Amino acid sequence: MVPHRWGGNPLTGPTVYLGLLRLDGPPPACSLSPEEEARLRGIAAPPRADQYRAGRWLLRRLAGLAADVPESAVALTAAGPPRARLDGGMRAPFLSLAHSGPWVLGAASEGPCGVDVEALGARRDWAGLAAHLGVPGAPDEPGVLRAWTLREARYKALEPSRAAVWRLRGPGYLACLVAAPGARPRLHVFGGATAPPLEPEPLEPEPLP
Ligand SMILES: CC(C)(COP(=O)(O)OP(=O)(O)OC[C@H]1O[C@@H](n2cnc3c(N)ncnc32)[C@H](O)[C@@H]1OP(=O)(O)O)[C@@H](O)C(=O)NCCC(=O)NCCS
Repeated sequence: MVPHRWGGNPLTGPTVYLGLLRLDGPPPACSLSPEEEARLRGIAAPPRADQYRAGRWLLRRLAGLAADVPESAVALTAAGPPRARLDGGMRAPFLSLAHSGPWVLGAASEGPCGVDVEALGARRDWAGLAAHLGVPGAPDEPGVLRAWTLREARYKALEPSRAAVWRLRGPGYLACLVAAPGARPRLHVFGGATAPPLEPEPLEPEPLP
């Protein structure tokens, strides 16, 4: 059998463990590495510190699901693109993370993946952002955020030139997953989040910079 370009089974594509968490109070408890604790101490704004803690919890949870190991066996890089290391030198899954307001979205997969989430209802210069992103037609929040989240998720996925897109939209957020064509996203919802089924969307090719 020819190995899939992004790992996994060439017929079915990699599973993507996708997790959506709504922060309605303190983030779930999780034990951090000294590097993560140091990064957390450098975050002055309490809401951002809560997002960071929640992201660490979510990435450990998803990496554990993807690799079928306990969360305690997952070590994470503290800053920049999230990377996992597993006890015993096991092959670690690829990870991606995003947060916006109370929403935290993460992904773990045997192949590269990228996610982005944006809270709805923010006051922004939609016309300026639409021009920046090249969004055609009348600029509105959903149109701009669809283009924005796609761009961010593609950036975070490591092979954006060959990818498929899934959209997720619920009350208060709009999100995007970019992963290998044929990937199978499995959504796990935590906290007070409500999420409809993921909608696969064919990727419109965009010129790469
Ligand atoms: C690095 C970048 C992806 C972070 O995005 P953001 O909107 O500030 O924040 P998000 O909530 O989407 O993502 C934050 C998480 O991304 C992860 N991250 C950080 N740098 C990253 C990178 N270079 N690649 C992938 N993931 C990264 C981290 O896990 C971070 O969370 P943490 O700090 O709590 O660990 C973004 O600043 C960027 O450079 N984007 C490039 C694409 C672009 O031009 N976008 C403009 C909008 S159209």
